[in-house]
Amino acid sequence: MNIIKVKNYEEMSRMAAHILAAQVIGKPDSVLGLATGSTPIGIYDCLAEWCKNGEVDFSKAATVNLDEYRGLDHSNDQSYYYFMNKHLFSRINIDPSRTNVPDGTEPDPVKESKRYEALIKELGGIDIQLLGIGHDGHIGFNEPNSIFDKETHCVDLTEMTIEANKRFFESIDDVPRQAYTMGIGTIMSARKILMVVTGEDKADIVAKAFYGEVTPEVPASIIQFHPDVTVICDEAALSKC
Ligand code: GLP
Repeated sequence: MNIIKVKNYEEMSRMAAHILAAQVIGKPDSVLGLATGSTPIGIYDCLAEWCKNGEVDFSKAATVNLDEYRGLDHSNDQSYYYFMNKHLFSRINIDPSRTNVPDGTEPDPVKESKRYEALIKELGGIDIQLLGIGHDGHIGFNEPNSIFDKETHCVDLTEMTIEANKRFFESIDDVPRQAYTMGIGTIMSARKILMVVTGEDKADIVAKAFYGEVTPEVPASIIQFHPDVTVICDEAALSKC
C-alpha cells in the first residue's frame, strides 16, 4: 500500500484529481469507479476545472459509481445520481449514457445487483476505483459484517451510517434504511484503488483499517491485500498512526 500524507483537504483533492486525470489522459476510454460523500467534492471541482480548461477530455471515458440509496430516483436531490450529476457529470464533457449509478428505484434487489455486475464486466472492468471511508470502516455501503460480500448487493445501513448521513437530509427519518452497493469483490477487482481520507474524525478508523488486522468487521481493511492501492490522507486523518 502506498500511503501518502498531505497537509490538508485541498492538497489531498488536487493530488487525487491528478491521479484520475492522468488515468484518463493515458487511457481516454478508462472506466472510472467513482464515489460520493463529502470527501471527493474537492476532487470533482479540480476535474471540472481542468476539463473546462481543455486539460482533460472525458468524452471517451465511462463511470460506474459505488452505490445508491434504495428507493430514491434520479430527481431526488439526496440520491447519489443527483450528487454525481451536480458535482461532476454536468460539469465535464462526459457522455451521460456512459455514466452509471445503481438504480435505486429497481424494487428487485437480485435483478439490480446482477444487472450492475454484468454492466461492469461489459465495460471491461474498472480501471481505477475512487473510495472514501465511513467512520465504521465501510467502503461504498459495505458495512461491518462477519463476511466480505463479493458482488453488488442490497444492504441494510447501520445506525452509525444513518446518523452520519442525516446531515444531508431534512430529518433522520428521511434517511433511507437500505442501499445498493458494489461488493468488496467488485471493488477489489478494480485494477487500481485510490482512497482519500480527511479530518481528525477519521483518524481512529484509518489506524484500524490500514495498520490493523484485515477483517470484514472493518471492511476497508481488505484493501491492504490489493496489489495497487494509493491512499491519500491529510495530516489530521493520519494523526493516530
Ligand atoms: C457514504 C458513502 C461512502 C463514503 C462515506 C463517507 O456512506 N456511501 O462511499 O465513503 O459516506 O463519506 P464522507 O466522505 O462524507 O465522510
